[in-house]
Amino acid sequence: MSVEIPAATSDYVPRADKLGSDNYLRIMNVRKEFDGFVAVDAVNLSIRKGEIFALLGGSGCGKSTLLRCLAGFETPTTGKIELDGQIINGLQPYNRPINMMFQSYALFPHMTVEQNIAFGLKQDGLPKEAVAHRVDEMLTLVRMNKFAQRKPHQLSGGQQQRVAIARALVNEPVMILADEATGNLDTKTSYEIMSLLQELNSSQGKTIVFVTHEPDIAAFSSRTVTLKDGRVVKDIKNENVRSAKEALAALPAEKDDEKPSADKQEKEVVK
Ligand SMILES: Nc1ncnc2c1ncn2[C@@H]1O[C@H](COP(=O)(O)OP(=O)(O)OP(=O)(O)O)[C@@H](O)[C@H]1O
Ligand SMILES: [Mg+2]
Repeated sequence: MSVEIPAATSDYVPRADKLGSDNYLRIMNVRKEFDGFVAVDAVNLSIRKGEIFALLGGSGCGKSTLLRCLAGFETPTTGKIELDGQIINGLQPYNRPINMMFQSYALFPHMTVEQNIAFGLKQDGLPKEAVAHRVDEMLTLVRMNKFAQRKPHQLSGGQQQRVAIARALVNEPVMILADEATGNLDTKTSYEIMSLLQELNSSQGKTIVFVTHEPDIAAFSSRTVTLKDGRVVKDIKNENVRSAKEALAALPAEKDDEKPSADKQEKEVVK
């Protein structure tokens, strides 16, 4: 099998180019209707194992719906989804080795950071010590150790997103789906989150599918598929994947009282 290696213009090399296995996740002619309204229409895509894949498109084009079909929170009206050779259309979300980070962080508000991350493992009946150990690993990975005892409302958006990442990773899924992981965050925090996702892809080989409406953020993927009115209208392999770590380092230093906020910035978005 031939393996394409992207031009070495950044320190970030997507894992897919090391593993090179095609057709890991196959979306075959998937259509999703809600009461006659077609949200996703005739989508055909193959996602490679280890790929960091972006779904780009304006509001209402079907990004979340398609992601929810992959995670198992929606069932396609017609068409099939296959993971590693197995049709998964009928599988419950908890039976798929795929976890989803939702457009809103969807953390349990009454639980601490630690309890949020531990929740799935406790449900699975893992012994207490093993849960504690794994939660600690996750807190370190997302650099949230010192916030372990806080509740979600005591965290910034970026910190909540880190907890959402830890929660999505805790039971070692092969794939993570991130719905607008940077949607509510300022530029610097967005790059930090993307840097973390690229790190998980590059060092742990996690296949990552993320949704965004910003081309600037899609540039952090090894492949960008654009949706419009529920259909794929563009499919581009990014030869020069932008490194979020480099993008972060290139941001101008800011004074503390001049931190950019989402509402102060004008971002390029796809309409
Ligand atoms: N449960 C539902 N019932 C009826 N219509 C729905 C449902 N979920 C989504 N839709 C519709 O399907 C279309 C696609 O919605 P979806 O949430 O997938 O868009 P999106 O691309 O994620 O948009 P955004 O960027 O605003 O999050 C929209 O017109 C939406 O109103
Ligand atoms: Mg959405």
